[in-house]
Order: sequence, then structure tokens, then C-alpha cells
Amino acid sequence: MRQFDVVVLGAGAAGLMCAIVAGRRGRRVLVLDHADEPGRKILISGGGRCNFTNIHTAPERFFSANPHFCKSALSRYTPRDFLDLVEKHGIAWHEKTLGQLFCDGSARAIVAMLLAECEAAGVKIQLGCRIAEVTRTERFRVETDTGAIAAESVVLATGGLSIPKLGATGLAHDIAVRFGLRLIGIRPGLVPLSFAAADLARTQKLAGVSLPVDVRCGAKKFREAMLFTHRGISGPAILQISSVWRDGVPIMLDLLPDEAAGFLQARKRARPGVSARTVLAEVLPQRMADVFLPDELSAGRIGAQPDRALMALGSALKSWQVTPAGSEGYAKAEVTLGGVDTACLSSRTMEARSAKGLFVIGEAVDVTGWLGGYNFQWAWASGWCAGCVA
Ligand code: FDA
Repeated sequence: MRQFDVVVLGAGAAGLMCAIVAGRRGRRVLVLDHADEPGRKILISGGGRCNFTNIHTAPERFFSANPHFCKSALSRYTPRDFLDLVEKHGIAWHEKTLGQLFCDGSARAIVAMLLAECEAAGVKIQLGCRIAEVTRTERFRVETDTGAIAAESVVLATGGLSIPKLGATGLAHDIAVRFGLRLIGIRPGLVPLSFAAADLARTQKLAGVSLPVDVRCGAKKFREAMLFTHRGISGPAILQISSVWRDGVPIMLDLLPDEAAGFLQARKRARPGVSARTVLAEVLPQRMADVFLPDELSAGRIGAQPDRALMALGSALKSWQVTPAGSEGYAKAEVTLGGVDTACLSSRTMEARSAKGLFVIGEAVDVTGWLGGYNFQWAWASGWCAGCVA
């Protein structure tokens, strides 16, 4: 039987980082993955340019049943630490909006960097490997289709359930449960929302239209772009709010966040001779103006329209309340919310409290970031913490 100090299950962002750090400590590390190439989500992330971190990383930008859990890891391995690695490898990068850092070129550079670091640290990577089960007597025993492997530590880094066609599975969750760890709140996050037939009848003709909005659900609010789709709504604002949205709960949209309430009455006084349609088309994409403008306001001068009707249209646009019928599920979700209950893990090392030598990192843990590089930062930070001790 092959012997290693550390076997990492999953050659994604968290697993590779963990392997590098453990390998640098002189540990004999093997990374196993069923895919035939490592870091597939890194490769497709950020439109192929990988939004690899966010300079505004802070615990408040993560969802978890225990909002304090992520603090230790995020403070010990920061966006600056990852940037140092990126710069050491001469990878050009830029800040886009909202503190999001992207490669200037391809996301492949990030995977190549991680693989080069793995090689330098003596890490072995075995791809196309089916993992059957993990058991433990004195040491862990990982059963694979190419034989069993014994290890002192096993790191669960196979991520969440999002995008099954990229090879996502619940393996980390399943093994965690077999070792007595609990799962909590698992559902798709950062996912487009779909509309019921009645809402869709109104908005489907807007598919492809994008505009900046304020979106709110409960106490959470985001200002980013929203995109109408053939099934409902998407775009960064909607992906963000989807992580707090629950079935049956309405979301509130301000489709004109830069206009004050009463803007139509103000325009009426300033330019009474123009039509309401012209006024709306100045602040909204024309197709939207046409969908939202009621028939009674579509003809004639705005100066002739009653304030009451203008006020009603203003609030329809600034406080549009819609209850999504559902989400587009794991097939379209960028992340999986929930995961292994953080109460079962050490926040400093990611080691299971009840199973010494078993670690859970990355998206498999109940820590999920906002859109914008936060999820990779969690993968790097949690992987780094486990790699320091595994
Ligand atoms: P990750 O999913 O990266 O890795 C898990 C690994 O385990 C994979 O290599 C997989 O093949 C392997 N595996 C799974 N099941 C297995 C099994 N049964 N046996 C063996 N191996 C198995 N985040 C961000 O911060 N910035 C961004 O730009 C983006 N963009 C983005 C785009 C898209 C389309 C998606 C789907 C996601 C993002 N994300 C993102 C989220 C980010 O990709 C995600 O949070 C991290 O990749 C999670 O890292 P992990 O290492 O935990 O899992």
C-alpha cells in the first residue's frame, strides 16, 4: 500500500493550496482528483480571467451559520499573501470594480502557478482517480480504483455541488458525515433566479437587457448590475441576493437607484412638453421603458399627466417587488451555500474536532463568500491553514 503523510482529496483551489503549504513543510503529500485536469473551476472563473481575490475581504462578506468562524483563517492568509504569490510568478493582474482582482491574461496562469508550487514542494498529483471510500484504523486508508493509500492526515477539498457537469460531487460531505461531522444549510448560491409564468409574461421580452439596480432581501442590500434572462433575472446583483433569498420570499428592486423618489413629477415641472416615454427612455433602456410605462401614460405630454399616475409609475420602478419562483439550481450556481458545520471544525486549522487528522477546507465548509473573488480567498485561506498543520 502506498504511504503518504497527507492525502488531499480534490485538486481545486483549496486542495492545491493546502498541498503546497504541507509539502513545503516537508510532508509527503498526494493530491487525488477524479477530473483529468486540476483546477477546472479556476480555469472557467471570472470569464476565463479568474477573479482570484478581493482586496475588501472581511468576515462580513461571508455567509455561515457562525459568522465568526472565518475570521481566523482570513486574517492569517490575506489577499496580500495571495497577491505576493501571483507577483512572484510574474502574473499580470488588475483591479476591476469593487476590489475584485483579475489576471490580465488567462486563468491558466493561476493553475500553472499552483502546479509549479506543488512541484517545488514535492507534491504528487494523481488525476482521473476514483475515490471509493476513506476509513480509519491507526492511519487513514483511502480506497481508490488504483489501490489503497495510507495516510496520517486526510484533507477533504472536493468542494460543493455546484456545476455537476464540471465534476462537482458531494464526496467531501459524504465522507465528513461518515466521520460523524454534521452538514448544515446546503443549497445553491450565487445563482440566477427564475420567475413564475405571470412575471415572465411581462419580462421575457426584456431578455438581454442589463441595468444597475439596488436589490434588497430582508436586511441585505447590493448595488450592482441586473440582467433580464429568458427564465427570470441574473447578473451580479441577483447572484449576490440569491445567497440570502429563500423560497416564497419577495425581493425588492430599485430599477432607478440614482433617481430620487418623485423624479417623474420633477421632470414634469422642468420639461412639461416632452412625453413620459421620452423621459423614461432617458433613464432606462428603451425596451424597459416600453414594458413599464402604463398605457394611460404612453401618449401625450408629461405636463398633462396627473401627479398621482406619475407617482405610481415612480414607485413601480423604484420599489419593484417580485417573488422569484425558484433558482436555476446547482447547474447554474457558482457556489454551494452551507456544508460541513463549522461547529465540528477548528477555525484555526480546519481539523475536525472529533476526528484527529481529518481536515475540511474550501467550499465544502459552511463558509460562502459574496460574488467577487471572496470564494477563492476562502479557498486559499482555509487551504493554507490546514496545510500548516496537516
Ligand atoms: P473546487 O470545486 O475548486 O475543487 C474541488 C475539486 O475536487 C475539483 O478539482 C473536483 O474535480 C474534485 N472532486 C469533486 N468531487 C470529486 C470526487 N468525487 N472524487 C475526486 N475528486 C473530486 N470564485 C471566486 O472567488 N472568483 C471567481 O471568479 C469565481 N468564478 C466562478 C465561476 C464559476 C462558473 C463557478 C462555478 C464558480 C466560480 N467561483 C469563483 C467559485 C469558486 O470556483 C469556488 O468557490 C472554488 O473553486 C472552491 O474551491 P474548492 O477547492 O473548495 O473546490
